[in-house]
Amino acid sequence: MKGLRPVGILGTGSYTPERVLSNFDLEKMVDTSDEWIVSRTGIRERRISAPEQASSDLAFEAAKKALAKANVSAEQLDMIIVATVTPDMSFPSTACLLQDKLGAKKAGAMDLSAACTGFLYGITTAAQFIANGLYKHVLVVGVETLSKITNYKDRNTCVLFGDGAGAAVLGPVKEGYGFQSFELGADGSGGQLLCLPAGGSRIPASTESVANDLHYLSMAGGEVFKFAVRVMNSATEAVLAKAGLERDEIDLLVPHQANKRIIDSAVQRFGLSEDKVVVNLDRYGNMSSASIPVALDEAVAEGRVKEGDNLVFVGFGGGLTWGAALLKWSTTPAEGSNA
Ligand code: COA
Repeated sequence: MKGLRPVGILGTGSYTPERVLSNFDLEKMVDTSDEWIVSRTGIRERRISAPEQASSDLAFEAAKKALAKANVSAEQLDMIIVATVTPDMSFPSTACLLQDKLGAKKAGAMDLSAACTGFLYGITTAAQFIANGLYKHVLVVGVETLSKITNYKDRNTCVLFGDGAGAAVLGPVKEGYGFQSFELGADGSGGQLLCLPAGGSRIPASTESVANDLHYLSMAGGEVFKFAVRVMNSATEAVLAKAGLERDEIDLLVPHQANKRIIDSAVQRFGLSEDKVVVNLDRYGNMSSASIPVALDEAVAEGRVKEGDNLVFVGFGGGLTWGAALLKWSTTPAEGSNA
């Protein structure tokens, strides 16, 4: 963000539903085992939203906490960006529903669709508005209720996903801190590898689409795995190079939480010790766009993030999409900017 106003994260918040679905619960639902799931993915349990809970409800809980941490009121928000593949409905956007719940009357609101990379696309977009001076405070939420599009008869997918929301309030920070670089990428030719086939304009909802299980998430796991390992590494390299930093200058890696083996490959590649990587997928599984902001919020709460630390966020997902961001951490607002 050279030559522009520095932008950082002023506060974070997260929310995960109360209901826990463990690997042992899944053993009773499909032909799987705790041993298989833990050894192949690292996941032990995940959270499941209540039938009456939609994505905007989870987003609301996370957003309230992030605003309080940032010491920014809902009325001070200029824009709300919600990254999700499980919106409450096709339209209005979940961001508009959240704007109403928060009473953020002055804020514009839009949803952003980049699957598990959604939070990274969201913060990259938000940061531009603030860096160029158009806006001061932008709320970015990654939220998913993936349990609502997961087929609990399909062992290939149902063991992987969970529900949750993570939020961040972005605003101007003092000189020398904030986002140093971004990297976003997409390869639409791999779109079929991870998708929700029906319910859009290609295959509108019908009794046939429901009978054929086309309203459930579909995934080619092996191919997504290879893609994920590749782009985790290349996107991390890219943000380091753009920021002019070396590998050993990473203080904390906050990766997308899809599979422990994917995270481990990046950790090995960048020579990071365990204390420099945030891993919470054992408790939440893959929460898609919510994974990175929930992991970040937990790391902040645990005191693992200090002023001046170099944080790398990196993720990948449906689209196919990928992205990374490098943030020199400070939650101190730029002087006079918190109006
Ligand atoms: N329990 C038991 N067996 C299972 C299973 C489960 N929950 N899910 C799949 N299997 C079986 C398959 O049926 C297959 O059996 P087969 O060989 O008889 O056909 C076998 O396990 C697949 O084994 P393998 O290919 O060695 O699995 P894997 O090591 O690739 O792990 C994933 C599978 C899905 C965990 C892994 O590919 C993965 O994590 N992919 C990336 C997924 C991802 O990150 N998606 C989200 C991106 S944002």
